Amino acid sequence: MENNEVKKDVVFSAIQPSGTITLGNYLGAVRNWVKMQDEHSCIYALADLHTITVRQQTAVMRKNILDAYASIMACGIDVEKSLFFIQSHVHTHAELAWLLSCYTQFGELSRMTQFKDKSAKHADNINAGLFTYPVLMAGDILLYQADKVPVGADQKQHIELTRDIAERFNGLYGNVFKVPEGFIPKNGARVMSLQDPTKKMSKSDENVNGCVHLLDPPEVIMKKFKRAVTDSEACVRYAEGKDGVNNLMAIYSAVTGQSMEQIENEFAGKGYGDFKTAVGEAVIEELRPIREKYEQLIQDKGYLEECYRKADEIALKISLRTLNKVKKKIGFVL
Ligand code: TYM
Repeated sequence: MENNEVKKDVVFSAIQPSGTITLGNYLGAVRNWVKMQDEHSCIYALADLHTITVRQQTAVMRKNILDAYASIMACGIDVEKSLFFIQSHVHTHAELAWLLSCYTQFGELSRMTQFKDKSAKHADNINAGLFTYPVLMAGDILLYQADKVPVGADQKQHIELTRDIAERFNGLYGNVFKVPEGFIPKNGARVMSLQDPTKKMSKSDENVNGCVHLLDPPEVIMKKFKRAVTDSEACVRYAEGKDGVNNLMAIYSAVTGQSMEQIENEFAGKGYGDFKTAVGEAVIEELRPIREKYEQLIQDKGYLEECYRKADEIALKISLRTLNKVKKKIGFVL
């Protein structure tokens, strides 16, 4: 990793360990993280500091962090090629977030749709962290001078804000930050709930059948797809107003690599029952090796710890370079 650092484009991304990882996380982001490992210098984080914007239970949070670490590794993150660390173990993140918050406007943060959505959902706990969360995220990315940030479509607005903050800071102090680009996949960027296809598939979906988890056993995955909401037309085609079918087609396309037209041809004259079974089977096969690998990894907590401690240390070293530069430019005495 350290050798690669200089010669390749830097990729940075992160995921919140706020529950089990979903099919949406996988197709929208993590699958691309895996694909990018050979061509880029990849740095990934478990964004555990981000999760406490919503109240967590201590023991559950601890378990979720290790589970998420093992799950992401099971997806194919190779710790020999990429850095995969835990955000709260690297103090530069919280520190840069404070500095950058003084270069981010209240109005900019007020416009973030995720803040509006989450404050509506957690009306009893609209804490300051929920509001300043995008600044912490900007700091995550900018600390590593990332070129590309592979994320799902829901993070686009946060990446734009990151670019604005970086450009503003560079405008004041010279070239301190690389201005990153979002990398949003063509297929799978926005996987919707299987029960309400107008809403994003989410870890916190109240309807358990709406969300497929990476570690769901095959029979559970099949049951969720069989119950997926569709429409009364009984024709597999991609069209406006067919949100449920469009979503299933997008998932099938992302997993099999087929175009919408190819999918329409494959299921011409067949009903939704056949189609749902095919989507379920394709997803089961895609996730099977991940679940098996996870079962293996989670048994060996010592190995997992060895992996993240090593990565934490390198992440600290890399990120300190940026943090110190920022502090110096602002006028702190180092
Ligand atoms: P998080 O944990 O909500 O999601 C992790 C990644 O999964 C993508 N994603 C989806 N993609 C497609 N369909 C869906 N239904 C779906 N749900 C989630 C997200 O776009 C994301 O890429 N703020 C971030 C974590 C973060 C981060 C960062 C990301 C913290 N610091 C720095 C990039 C760079 C978040 O909450 O993602």
